[in-house]
Amino acid sequence: MDGKLRDNDISHVVEADRAHVWHHLIQHAPWSGTDPKADPRIIVEGRGMRVWDQKGKEHLDGVSGGVWTVNVGYGRERIANAVRDQLIKLPYFAGSAGSIPGALFSEKLISKMPGMSRVYYTNSGSEANEKAFKMVRQIAHKRYGGKKHKILYRDRDYHGTTIACLSAGGQDQRNAQYGPYTPGFVRVPHCLEYRAQWDLDGEAYGIAAANAIEEVILAEGPDTIGALC
Ligand SMILES: Cc1ncc(COP(=O)(O)O)c(C=O)c1O
Repeated sequence: MDGKLRDNDISHVVEADRAHVWHHLIQHAPWSGTDPKADPRIIVEGRGMRVWDQKGKEHLDGVSGGVWTVNVGYGRERIANAVRDQLIKLPYFAGSAGSIPGALFSEKLISKMPGMSRVYYTNSGSEANEKAFKMVRQIAHKRYGGKKHKILYRDRDYHGTTIACLSAGGQDQRNAQYGPYTPGFVRVPHCLEYRAQWDLDGEAYGIAAANAIEEVILAEGPDTIGALC
């Protein structure tokens, strides 16, 4: 060993990660002790459906980037080249103006969504839902004196990670310790036959679930309900 860093030696990367990266959804404690085998996992490269970690171990990525996001697979050069070309031409301009890819993609998307006419671009699902919640409230203010602002969400729902999205979150374990939440969100029973709430099957189960939602709407006052997630 001459002390020089080899290209394929990423031990310094592992140490930087261990020391400075705050990971999502995972406990850091196992990497903080003295067990040299307990390193944080660094995903180094991907091709198709497979990724490789810092130890060269191959993984079949059955969850598409860990959280269902890389649906087209890894190493797609055609996409990388299109992104590269656009970054050089124009990396960003605020949504108050249009862009060539933004206009053309919205046309394509709308052609697949009958009854819809416009696309609002966001960076994540959480932001999309935040925007939708704002639309409901703005419509309530413009047309209903602010009254029709309540947003219903189902038990077991997940709508994102921001405070308003967690306010529409029906998974109590996920929400614990982040309150208080945004007012105006109201929980209704879920529609999952898998976690059946009534001893009914198929269509009868669906009708019971719809009736249970209606009960909440009637109790809250239909003129106060702006949306159902
Ligand atoms: C149904 C649903 N809504 C919203 C979100 C939030 O999206 P994002 O993680 O992009 O903020 C998710 C993410 O898993 C989701 O599954």
